[in-house]
Order: sequence, then C-alpha cells, then structure tokens
Amino acid sequence: MKVSFKDLGLVNTREMFAKAVKGGYAIPAFNFNNMEQLQAIIQAAAETKSPVILQVSKGARNYANQTLLRYMAQGAVAYAKELGWKRPQIVLHLDHGDSYELCKSCVDFGFSSVMIDGSALPYDENVALTRKVVNYAHKYDVTVEAELGVLAGVEDEVSAEASHYTKPEEVIDFVKKTKCDSLAISIGTSHGAYKFKPEQCTRDPKTGRLVPPPLAFDVLKAIEKKLPGFPIVLHGSSSVPQEYVDIINTHGGKLPDAVGIPEEQLRKAAKSAVCKINIDSDSRLAMTAAVRKVFVDKPGEFDPRKYLGPARDEMKKLYMHKIVNVLGSNNKAR
Ligand code: G3H
Ligand code: 13P
Ligand code: ZN
Repeated sequence: MKVSFKDLGLVNTREMFAKAVKGGYAIPAFNFNNMEQLQAIIQAAAETKSPVILQVSKGARNYANQTLLRYMAQGAVAYAKELGWKRPQIVLHLDHGDSYELCKSCVDFGFSSVMIDGSALPYDENVALTRKVVNYAHKYDVTVEAELGVLAGVEDEVSAEASHYTKPEEVIDFVKKTKCDSLAISIGTSHGAYKFKPEQCTRDPKTGRLVPPPLAFDVLKAIEKKLPGFPIVLHGSSSVPQEYVDIINTHGGKLPDAVGIPEEQLRKAAKSAVCKINIDSDSRLAMTAAVRKVFVDKPGEFDPRKYLGPARDEMKKLYMHKIVNVLGSNNKAR
C-alpha cells in the first residue's frame, strides 16, 4: 500500500531550500539509524526551531527496517509537536539512492525526498537515471537530489584531487535535462572520518594537529554563477571534532589522524547557494566517545540506558552546535 509523505506530517525540500538559499543559511541533513539518534535530532531541531532533514542511507534502511523507519519518522513529527514545536518542518530523505527501484520504493513508502546518486556513471547514464527518478517522484510531489562529480574516498589514490570536482560547464545541461530539485557537488569534501591523508595536510606547529587543504570555493562560485539561486548540496561535511577523537583514543579506541572539514569553511559554504549540509560521521564520533567513556569510567555498568543516554545527550549537543553555530538554520521554522 502506498503512503504519501503528506499523511505522515512530513514536508518536501522545495520551499525549505528556496528560503535557505535566499536567507544565506543551510539546512542540516543528519543521518539516523536508531532511536537515540532520532531523539537527539528532533530535540535539537525542536529546541532551535530549525528545519531538519532526516537522512536514511541504503545501509540504514537495511539495518533499521523500512517499515519501522517510516513509523519512526511519523513519530518524530508527533514528538516534535509534543516538545512544543508547533509547525515542525521535517523531511524524510533517502541518502545515496543507487537505483530507480530503491528510489521508487522510498517514494511509495512515505519519504518526502530522495537522492539518486548516479555520480559514478558516465554523464549520459547519470542524466537518464536521474530523469527517470524525477519523473516518478514528481508525480507524488517528492523532491529529488542528484549528484554530479565524484566525492573522493580515502582509499582513492587521487583523494580530493581536482579531477573529481564537479565540472561547472556541465551543470546547466544536467539540471535542464534531469529537472532535479537540488544538486550535490564535489569540491573537496569526502565521506567518513579520514577526509584527507596526512600528506595532503600541513601540521599546526602548536598542537601538532593536521590542517586540511581548503575546499575548492572557486568551483562552487563558478557553479553558482551558472545556476543562480539553484539549491546546492554538500556531502561529506563532518568536521571530525578532535575532542571526540581524543576521548575515543584515550578510552581504548584507535582513530589515528582522523580529520574533517574545518567549521569556518562550512560556515562560508552555508552562506552561499549551499542549502543542505550532510553530517553523519560527527554523530557517530559523539556517540562512540560517550559510550567508550562510560565503559571505561564505569566498568560495572551494563544498563544500555546508562551509556546510550549520555550518547544521546552528546549527539543533541553536537546537533545544536551545528544548527546554531555553523549552518545558521535556527529560528527558520517557527
Ligand atoms: O554517505 C554515507 C553516509 O554517511 C551513510 O553511511 O552507508 O554507512 O549508512 P552508511
Ligand atoms: P560525513 O561522513 O562527512 O558525515 O558525510 C555524510 C554524508 O555525506 C551522508 O550522505
Ligand atoms: Zn553522502
């Protein structure tokens, strides 16, 4: 049985993005896989009155079960209202959809937004696949994010090299042909907690910490010029807070040389046509740091609420910080 996102109290990204581009801020897109992450996201969004995108990857969908996820998203809207947020603006979004069938299934299951990631395909195939997804999704008023350019992976020899960046000369044709609602681009961000190799960074002489190379803002500017006012998306935008890395490393973990995107660069991006910023790894780090700390400090503890509770509180703190101090989306959904 098909379900419309509208019956679940969710919204699509159309209006949200238009306002964000105009207002010079970005909407947070936080991935979730479990109840504690969802609680923390909703508490943070409700308290700051920030529009929010709940992101579900293919892996999360398999982990948590699609039916359960749908009811969790519906429950999230009700929970937000219970917390005193009168008109919650919550999107349920498929992150990195890799096939037409998966996107269609999410549209039919109550998602209000889907991403079709054809970025690894040859250009014409990416166009054709994206167009097919858009044709279906738009029938149900579901918005579609597409991707052009390849995000570097840490295993990739030419990580964050210019050869992967989105080509500004392709974006007009791509958007015109696919009719996508937003476009994810590659300007030097990448997924995970190891965004740059040590040899791509310099070291801060005072702290000894890695200092990553800057994002390709010239590419972003060229894209904005080609597509004035069109919503742009940044994936791989975790900052990999070093305080979490330190807690993890001093409590039995091992994350040597983990490094992310400095916050001042994300702040700058949020003020541009970038209107959606994807964050997953930072929440994983917050959760892992909090859980490891309880395990080391209180070895006798075995009630999951006693370690998942602090993890939830730490994630909420992180989400609020991102909303208020980095993306600037607070008070935009009153
Ligand atoms: O883009 C990747 C997201 O961080 C989701 O990761 O596939 O491990 O759920 P995942
Ligand atoms: P991070 O790994 O930087 O959190 O990126 C998440 C992301 O882009 C999800 O699509
Ligand atoms: Zn991503």
